[in-house]
Formats: sequence, C-alpha cells, structure tokens
Amino acid sequence: MYNVLSMRPSELSKMKEVSRSAVTQRFKNNEACERFQNRLVSIPPNLVREYLEETNPDMFNKFTVCLVSNIVGGVGKTTATLNIGASFRRLCDKPLVYIDLDSQSNLSQTISGKPQDFDKPVMFDYFSNQASLDDILEEVAENTYIIRSSLNNAYLDRTLGGAKEIKTKGVKLLEEIKSKLGDDCFVIIDLPPQISSALNTLVVAMSQMDGDVRKIIANPLRSDSFAISGSKILHNEVTEILDTFNLDANTDIEIHTFFSSFDRRIKSSNDAYKEAVESPEIRKSLSSVAIRYSSEVVKTLNKHETLFSSKQALKSTASQDYMDLTLNLLGFNQGQAERFQ
Ligand SMILES: Nc1ncnc2c1ncn2[C@@H]1O[C@H](COP(=O)(O)OP(=O)(O)OP(=O)(O)O)[C@@H](O)[C@H]1O
Ligand SMILES: [Mg+2]
Repeated sequence: MYNVLSMRPSELSKMKEVSRSAVTQRFKNNEACERFQNRLVSIPPNLVREYLEETNPDMFNKFTVCLVSNIVGGVGKTTATLNIGASFRRLCDKPLVYIDLDSQSNLSQTISGKPQDFDKPVMFDYFSNQASLDDILEEVAENTYIIRSSLNNAYLDRTLGGAKEIKTKGVKLLEEIKSKLGDDCFVIIDLPPQISSALNTLVVAMSQMDGDVRKIIANPLRSDSFAISGSKILHNEVTEILDTFNLDANTDIEIHTFFSSFDRRIKSSNDAYKEAVESPEIRKSLSSVAIRYSSEVVKTLNKHETLFSSKQALKSTASQDYMDLTLNLLGFNQGQAERFQ
C-alpha cells in the first residue's frame, strides 16, 4: 500500500529558512495539522503547498513531466522515480502520476506490490491503440496514480516503429493525462536502461508541449565510469533526437544529472565526481544535490516502501537528499546546502 508521512515542522523550517517556532506559530490554530500532546507533529500537503507558494508562487502550478533515465542499468532510476514522486506527494496535494515503462516492473512492484497482470493492459496496449488511458491508469492513494508495467512492455518499441508514431504517441499520452487530471499534475516516468523509442517519443512530446509545461530529465549517476559514459550517451541522444525532429532550436528541457548513491568518504565517489565534471554536458547539468549512500534505501525497497513511509527511513540522509532534489526540480531554491563545495 503506497503511503507517505506528512511533513514535519523541522523539515519545513529548514526548507523555508525560518525558525521552528515560526512554523509552529504559523500552523498554531490549524485543525488539519496533526498534534501530539498539544505539540505540532506534522503538516498535511495542502498546507505545505500554500506555505511554500507564498515565496515560490510558480512551484506547483505547472504541468510537469519528469523522465528518469540513464541508459545504464542499476544506477538508481527506480529508486529516484519512487522517491522524487513521494517527495512531491508530501509537498503538495496536486495529482501525481507514476508511469512504469520498464518491463522488469520494479516500480510497479514497489508501489502496487506486483506488476500488472499479464492479461491486463499496459503502455504497450495503449500505444497499440488497444487500450485507453482509463484502462491503464490506477489510483493507488488520494490523487496518486500509477500506470503499471508488465513483461508485455518488452514489446513497447514495436508500437513506435516510425517517425510518425514517435512524433504523435508520447504527445497524445501526456495531453490526455493533462486533460484528465489537470494542468498542475506531476508525471514521473521510470524508463528502461536503453536508448529506446519510448525515450524518443517522450523527449519529442515534451519539446512539442507549450512553454508552460515544466520538462525535466532526471539522470541518476552511479559513481563509476560506466554509468558516467551512459549519462554522456543519454545527453547526446537527447540532442540528436531533437535535431532529427527539428525541435532543437529552443527546447526548454532541463537535464538534471545527480549522483544517486554518493559517499564523499569513499575514493570512488570522489573520483567519479572528478570524472563526471570533465564532461562539459554533465558539468552543465550536474545538480548541486547528491543523494548520499544510505542503507535505508535497500531496506525500504525490500519492504515495498518509499523513504518517506516510516519515521526510521525519514531520518535517513537519502530521504533528506531526495526532498532537496525534488525542491530543486520544482525550481525552489531556498535553504539547500551546496554539497560539493
Ligand atoms: N542512495 C542509495 N544508497 C544505497 N543504495 C542505493 C541508493 N540508491 C540506489 N541504491 C541501490 O542501488 C540498486 C539499484 O537501484 P535501482 O533499482 O533504483 O536502479 P535502476 O537504475 O532502476 O536499475 P535497473 O536498470 O535494473 O532498472 C538498488 O539495490 C538500490 O537499493
Ligand atoms: Mg529500475
């Protein structure tokens, strides 16, 4: 069962760079907040949103598409998809859609306990015009949806065989989600570890959507040369796809590359950082937030939970980092440590 804990006052005070008592004062008379022995314990997402919007009015009013991609496997794509989505869920009450496009279905298993049943429709059926959005979209918690995957998505690229399909099918999907759930919805997509037509159609779709849409590629990096090479190829591929479809002129896709399991005490992490910033593309897209290595990541995935589902996980460095990264993706720039300085 997908579940995330509401925001604690201490988190909000750090985010807004105000004292904890200022936060307590702000929500003093609000019945919707949770209290224990008269002490403020947590603040629900709708109130967090209103509070953050006072200083960052544009944070939550945009349709946002976030592709999570690296062409190398095991770099933290599914972990990032899950936890960026969960961070969003705690920050606001707007619709959230997880899309699992990886036929291995790890995201579906974590969020829903299992992949989509083999005889039920997935994105393959939607792109083949055999299923509608309603057939594949499931609500897993309030205003939180998933499009689950199954091994049938191993054939996904067959539905995107030509330039026409690549140009139209991703746009249709995103436009349908937008008209069903509203233009302040956050869509996050876990892609398989390869250069795929699914990646191409979504990049092309994002570029064709109007300027009011926030377009993000979140690119997790593991601390080794192989994953860094994967990131370089992804950067090149995005440039090439846009060039092929003549969409390169003024694309506003932001690539955010980030270390997904960083430990600055370990030489390999520091070496990887040095190697990554030697690449001009990665240097330009590298996030100031690195996700620190945390044993809670593995523990929570094993329990089919997010880093925000239990008090124990919430204390982890990785949960704090995913929250900071998500704030960054949403254009919130207050109260964040520059971890590489
Ligand atoms: N910050 C972290 N700290 C510790 N372990 C981590 C961290 N981030 C990811 N991992 C671990 O790295 C492994 C790979 O993560 P994940 O499954 O998210 O990668 P992936 O890119 O989705 O893999 P695949 O290509 O197989 O889909 C997992 O075992 C996960 O628990
Ligand atoms: Mg994965």
